Amino acid sequence: MEQTNSKRIVLGLTGGIAAYKAAELARLLIKQGMEVQVAMTEAARHFITPATLQALTGKAVLTSQWDEAQNGMAHINLSRAADAIVIAPATADFIAKLAHGQANDLLSTMCLARNCPLIIAPAMNRQMWEHPATQRNIAQLKADGVTILGPDSGLQACGEEGMGRMLEAEQLAHDIAASLQPKFLAGTKILLTAGPTYEAIDAVRGITNRSSGKMGYAIAQAALELGAQVTLVSGPTALSCPQGAQVVNVSSAADMFEAVKQHVAASDIFIGVAAVADYRVAQSSAQKIKKSDANLTLELVPNPDILAYVAALPRPPFCVGFAAESENLKEYAEQKRRAKKLPLLAANLAQQAIGADDNELVLFDDAGEHKLPSSNKLTQARALLQHIIKLRGKQS
Ligand code: PMT
Repeated sequence: MEQTNSKRIVLGLTGGIAAYKAAELARLLIKQGMEVQVAMTEAARHFITPATLQALTGKAVLTSQWDEAQNGMAHINLSRAADAIVIAPATADFIAKLAHGQANDLLSTMCLARNCPLIIAPAMNRQMWEHPATQRNIAQLKADGVTILGPDSGLQACGEEGMGRMLEAEQLAHDIAASLQPKFLAGTKILLTAGPTYEAIDAVRGITNRSSGKMGYAIAQAALELGAQVTLVSGPTALSCPQGAQVVNVSSAADMFEAVKQHVAASDIFIGVAAVADYRVAQSSAQKIKKSDANLTLELVPNPDILAYVAALPRPPFCVGFAAESENLKEYAEQKRRAKKLPLLAANLAQQAIGADDNELVLFDDAGEHKLPSSNKLTQARALLQHIIKLRGKQS
């Protein structure tokens, strides 16, 4: 199955100050595994040099329709080889050209001659954006099936404040990847837990762990890309909410359990990624415990197992467990999968996975063991979801 990360993108730059953000966008798209070919208008060259984009992409930047190497057919050659054309920044002038089907330079000709999706990231002064002419052009492009990403509101290069800023490169890279994924999970409701839990000892102290939430949030993002409706029950993390997910913030394992119980009936898939504390303090103190020279003993009592509860429901969703082990990965993971009667469990080495940007999941199902090559957590998440789609397909 083709993944976003093998996509070929033509990144078109038009003449606006936001062109500087296109350099970072090119870098982030390449980081996701995409192949990026840059084409620039003459005006864009006043804001950023082709040399910068060439250095980042490793490909000669195309600026002219009349490039001899392309035999005068650059507009056809480029658009036929692309999975999508992304115009970032897209100026008011270029948007007007697109809306009217004009083709008087390489980029506009390529957009008109294309047979692949067109994605644009508008960038302009707020009054240009609000002008009825621009709004008419944007409405026309939407009606023509063009994907419009942004713009954002905020302080502008001209010193004014309002709508018209191009989205930040990170947001654009995410939205471009999402819009290129086939929507295999459209209509599917996914409930997942992520991050650590925090079990209070007193008013200021508690028991927690080093889970950052990155793995769970990456799965939420990958599921959104595939068109799923995502409810993310998250322990305390420093991460921002994946756009489009319903996030339920919780603290303790008991809170997490309550949130899962509330949402599980409506879900088709449950994924337990959270590092849930196995124990909580029997009697936590509402006040800060005063220091003394005597030993302090805390009595810990077991927390409910959320995943086991969900898997044992009379009509459970498709349940996916995680296991973080420091040793004997295969043996312990299989034990956990069997004990909770899970169709799928993703195991990782705790010391490698926790808090890290990369991971190396090993998936265990009835057919055996499937190792995913080491990669960033979003790539792992996408591969895990493809595996879930395959297994659910076999079940139905
Ligand atoms: O958050 P990151 O920094 O990105 O790190 C990701 C991760 C390492 C935390 C993640 O990939 C992972 O392995 N999560 C599971 C962590 C774990 O401690 O698993 P466990 O072996 O304790 O639990 C097994 C399964 O039961 C898990 O799906 C867990 O969510 C679930 N569980 C456990 C205890 C409990 N009381 N309730 C549960 O639902």
